Order: sequence, then structure tokens, then C-alpha cells
Amino acid sequence: MERRHASASAAAAGRLVLLSSLLLLTTAANGHNITRILAKFPEFSTFNHYLTITHLAGEINSRETITVCAVDNAAMNTLLAKHLSISVIKNVLSLHILLDYFGAKKLHQITNGTALAATMYQATGSAPGSSGFVNITDMKGGKVAFGAEDAGNLDAAFVKSVKEIPYNISVIQISKILSSPDAEAPTPGPAEMNLTNIMSRHGCKFFADTLSGTEAEKTYMDNLDGGLTIFCPSDDAFKGFLGKYKNLTAEGKTSFLLYHGMPIYQSLIMLKSNNGLMNTLATDGAKKYAITVQNDGEQVTLETKINTAKITGTIIDQQPLAIYTIDEALLPKELYKAGLSPAPAPAPEAKGKKSSKKHHHGSPPAPDTSDSGPSPADSPDDDVADQEADSNDGGSRFESGRLVSVVIGLWLASSLL
Ligand SMILES: *[C@@H]1O[C@H](CO)[C@@H](O)[C@H](O)[C@H]1NC(C)=O
Ligand SMILES: *[C@@H]1O[C@H](CO)[C@@H](O)[C@H](O)[C@H]1NC(C)=O
Ligand SMILES: *[C@@H]1O[C@H](CO)[C@@H](O)[C@H](O)[C@H]1NC(C)=O
Ligand SMILES: *[C@@H]1O[C@H](CO)[C@@H](O)[C@H](O)[C@H]1NC(C)=O
Ligand SMILES: *[C@@H]1O[C@H](CO)[C@@H](O)[C@H](O)[C@H]1NC(C)=O
Ligand SMILES: *[C@@H]1O[C@H](CO)[C@@H](O)[C@H](O)[C@H]1NC(C)=O
Repeated sequence: MERRHASASAAAAGRLVLLSSLLLLTTAANGHNITRILAKFPEFSTFNHYLTITHLAGEINSRETITVCAVDNAAMNTLLAKHLSISVIKNVLSLHILLDYFGAKKLHQITNGTALAATMYQATGSAPGSSGFVNITDMKGGKVAFGAEDAGNLDAAFVKSVKEIPYNISVIQISKILSSPDAEAPTPGPAEMNLTNIMSRHGCKFFADTLSGTEAEKTYMDNLDGGLTIFCPSDDAFKGFLGKYKNLTAEGKTSFLLYHGMPIYQSLIMLKSNNGLMNTLATDGAKKYAITVQNDGEQVTLETKINTAKITGTIIDQQPLAIYTIDEALLPKELYKAGLSPAPAPAPEAKGKKSSKKHHHGSPPAPDTSDSGPSPADSPDDDVADQEADSNDGGSRFESGRLVSVVIGLWLASSLL
């Protein structure tokens, strides 16, 4: 009897452990830290450094099943001698991150002797067509050969296993950088990017058309080199809003458009790990036109005092520019507060310069795009499809207070019609 009781509670405890580890899997970062793993091996210091400055280290840490194909400093120097831009180096290195677990044993026992492994390059959507896969082939004499699928050769070889944490992370050394014409192709420099075209082509045509040719568009462009993040309301969210936008004063329109941009580059992982009050391009002095970035589980939300928008997808994430789609236009309290007509907006600073004023409880992240990586606290999900799926569950949870202010905000907004 006692034993049965004990085993029943053991089973219950087991289920609890299973349940909590499932929770951990979905909500917490994994234990591994690629920076720390590689720090023990000076021969990989250059590779490690570039994982940090490209922000790939954070992406690796937040994945659950991953293989990193490291190269030594001599091989990295060959890559660096090509003088590629940092975003191209990021593409090349992301081809060295396989989205599956390949320990030394699995590499030598590949079913049918050859396999194509999906990589982070392919997963982030930067890879054109079907490139972004790595061909792994078992060769005579126990050798394992690697090559980028688009290069059509297998000129890198497995050297040794560096660190294996079974089924979580495997770090292996390969003999040289995987050459890939696609990954090494130059990415357009910030100045050549046409923001409104990029947004139009990815479901934000109404917002892009509204922005096009305005003072706000110039401010966006002025900030591109130093880092820019744009939150563009999707067409579904924005087309119904156009009437209300058109009713704003000229100044109000500019402020509204600038409110949808931040004067720093923020990858999704950085947004997830830098919650708090943040300045927008419309910010003009303390606490004006600020937005609170807040995680709701895996979901990143943007809170104004009036409403809460969810990030539903990534249009582009290419340092120094990130553009995300959101499911609602952001309503600043400076424009949409009590009253029947939009409040007159204070003019935003002419050039949208970064405000240097700090909010006392904000966490101004201002990450220097050229050093220290992010410290991810969560699993990333740069996959647009996944995010769009997330956004479909419609499950934004409101505290009752916030719900009330949203309802009031909606009522005010609709009374403007
Ligand atoms: C692998 O990751 C899981 C959760 O993601 C963790 O529970 C487990 O302890 C990790 N395994 C090792 C050997 O660290
Ligand atoms: C990973 O390790 C490095 C070096 O030890 C440390 O600076 C960094 O904060 C760690 N990152 C995380 C996410 O713990
Ligand atoms: C291995 O080859 C067989 C026969 O060609 C094929 O049916 C099978 O799908 C292959 N397995 C893998 C994992 O590619
Ligand atoms: C990998 O490349 C080799 C040599 O080009 C080729 O024979 C093999 O079919 C490729 N493997 C896969 C899975 O495409
Ligand atoms: C972006 O492209 C559109 C048309 O393709 C053009 O009208 C617009 O002037 C361009 N914007 C900039 C800032 O070059
Ligand atoms: C715009 O303002 C006018 C005049 O105040 C008002 O009649 C109209 O309903 C407003 N339209 C919207 C969409 O708010």
C-alpha cells in the first residue's frame, strides 16, 4: 500500500518535473552560453568576437538544439582579409550555425552518408532561394566534409569536437570558412535602402504610402546610419486608421509618424532583453512620446498610455536597420488624449536627433552596434511565420486598469470619427 502510494506520488512528481521542464523549454533561455564555451579556447577568439558583435551569440544561446561550426583565428583572418561589411560577415557566420545537433558521432554516422543541414542563415530569411543549407558528407577514411549548398563544393573538413552538451549544443571545429557566393554577396548599405519600398513589399503599404515624401521620412533616413528601428502597422491595422490620421494637424502627423521609429538598432532579442521605457524619434524632452517595451511571454509588446501593440513579424533585421510589423497603430497620449479633437502636438525636434535625456526608470539601451552583444533572456523567434502564428492567438492579457484605458482610448478614438 505504502509503496503504491509512494510510486503514485513519484509519478505525480515526475509529471510535475516534466511539466515544469516543458515550461522551461518554452519560456526560459537554455543554459548554454557560446561566448563562455569558446572563451576557453584562444584559437577561436576571433570567431568568438565576431559572434558577439554580429549579435549571433544571443541567437545561438536562445536556441535549443544547435551546432556551431567554429573556425580558428587563421581561418577567420582569411575571411576578414576580404573586407566584408559587418552585415555580410553576419550572413557568412550564420551559415556556420546548424539548426540541429551534430556531435562527432552523428557526423560520422550520417544516414546514407550525406545530408543537408538547415542553418541560421536560411532561417533568418536573408538567404536567397534555397541557399543557406550546408551539405555534410561522410568521406573515405573517416573524414567528414562540409560545403555550402550554393557553392557546390565540399572543401571544408571536420577537425574536432570542441564541446558537446548532448542534444542542446555541439561546438565543432571545421578546417575553413564555408565559402558561399550568396552569403558573401554585398548587402545594400543603409543609404541605398528605400524604407518605404521595403515596408510596402511586406504588408505595410498604407503606412509606407503615408510616410512617403514627408518630413518624417527624411528624419528616418537621417537616422539610418546610426541605427534605426521602425514599427510599422500592418495594412489591416492601418487602413481603418487613415481617417483619424488625416485629421491630425501637420505637426501631429509628423509626430505620429516619428512615434513609430526608434533612433537605435534593436534586434528582436535585444527588445526582449531590454524591457522598459524607450525614446522614439518623436521624443522631445523627458517622457514625451515614449514607448514601453514589454514582454508578454514570448511576445514583445509596445505600450503607449493609450494602447498596446504586438510585434507580429520581422520585415528586415540587418544591422543597423530593423523593421517590424505591429498589429495596431501606436497612439501617443500627446495626440490622443481626452477631448474630442486631437490635441495640438508640440513640434518634434526638427531633425529627430536622439534625445540624450534619460528617463529615470527607463532602461535606455542605446546599444553600441559595434560591441558587446545582447544578453538574451528569452528564446528568440525571428521567424516571421511563427510570429504571425503567435499573433493569431489574439491572447493579449491586460491588467484591468490597462483594459479600461484601452477601452477609453478606443472610445475616444471612435468618437473622433
Ligand atoms: C539541455 O537543455 C534543457 C532545457 O533546454 C535542460 O533542461 C538540460 O539540462 C540541458 N542539458 C544539459 C546536459 O545541459
Ligand atoms: C555569457 O558569457 C559571457 C562571458 O563569460 C558573459 O559576459 C555574458 O554575460 C554571458 N551571457 C549570458 C546571456 O549569460
Ligand atoms: C536513404 O536512402 C534511401 C534509398 O535511396 C531513401 O529511401 C531514404 O529516404 C534515405 N534516407 C535519408 C535520411 O535521406
Ligand atoms: C552533397 O554534395 C555531394 C557532392 O556534391 C553530392 O553528391 C550529394 O548528393 C550532396 N548531398 C545532398 C544531401 O544533397
Ligand atoms: C523610394 O522608392 C519610391 C518608388 O520606388 C520613390 O518614389 C521614393 O522617392 C523612394 N524614396 C527614397 C527616399 O528614395
Ligand atoms: C475629422 O474631423 C472632422 C471635423 O472635426 C470630423 O467631422 C470628422 O468626423 C473627423 N474624422 C475622423 C475620421 O476622425
